[in-house]
Amino acid sequence: TPLWLIVPAAGQGRRMGADCPKQYLEIDGRPLLALTLERLHGVYPQAGLCLCLDADDDRFDPAWVPFADWQRIDGGTERADSVSNALEALATRAGADDLVLVHDVARPCVHPDDLARLLAALSEDRIGGLLAAPVADTMKRADGAGRVTATEPRDGLWHAMTPQGFRYGLLCEAFEAARRGGIDITDEASAVEALGLAPRLVAGRRDNLKITHPEDLALAAHILAAQARQSAG
Ligand code: CTP
Ligand code: MG
Repeated sequence: TPLWLIVPAAGQGRRMGADCPKQYLEIDGRPLLALTLERLHGVYPQAGLCLCLDADDDRFDPAWVPFADWQRIDGGTERADSVSNALEALATRAGADDLVLVHDVARPCVHPDDLARLLAALSEDRIGGLLAAPVADTMKRADGAGRVTATEPRDGLWHAMTPQGFRYGLLCEAFEAARRGGIDITDEASAVEALGLAPRLVAGRRDNLKITHPEDLALAAHILAAQARQSAG
């Protein structure tokens, strides 16, 4: 079946606090947007891409898109609105059983092996799922004053990452239901969960970080360099 990619890249990067949205920050002279698209293209070269960008974005260069089949989609107010716009744009092209993978532009370190394993796992799965990693830190719950009220059992807690992948029909149904129900969705899986379904967690590497805060950029540069050394050696 055909494979579709949605890459939300319409954020402002406020927590990053740089003088441009974080997708245009560079590692080794390449913007994160180009790095992330290159990673995806390396494993999913035949996929059709929906790239969500702010309508006023004048930094974007189409030369950074390695996909043959791609379209620019206007971003929305929230990430979920950007993804929703892309789902709408696919209405005339995607079949209900086509797999749609959504991947944050801010995750350029996702490992090709994990991208391949995710696709293999989801091709067999009726519901869909996401890359995730078990929580390693001890988890504390706090009151409003920043004092510990409880230590939460870490067993069974996972970091949700991207890509997250679901059948096109199911994802549209989940987004529509969340919209009607006024449910705030932070990721695709949460929309599907709200339907009462249980997405599959596909264990991935812990270095698939989402570049969010200023210190994350140097960390991502380090991770990419380490991954390049590993694949060379
Ligand atoms: N995103 C989007 N449309 C929005 C908001 C976010 O496409 N209206 C995208 C971002 O570009 C990013 C992903 O969703 O790839 C995850 O969002 P986040 O890490 O929060 O990025 P920003 O919203 O850009 O950062 P911040 O929240 O710090 O402003
Ligand atoms: Mg955001």
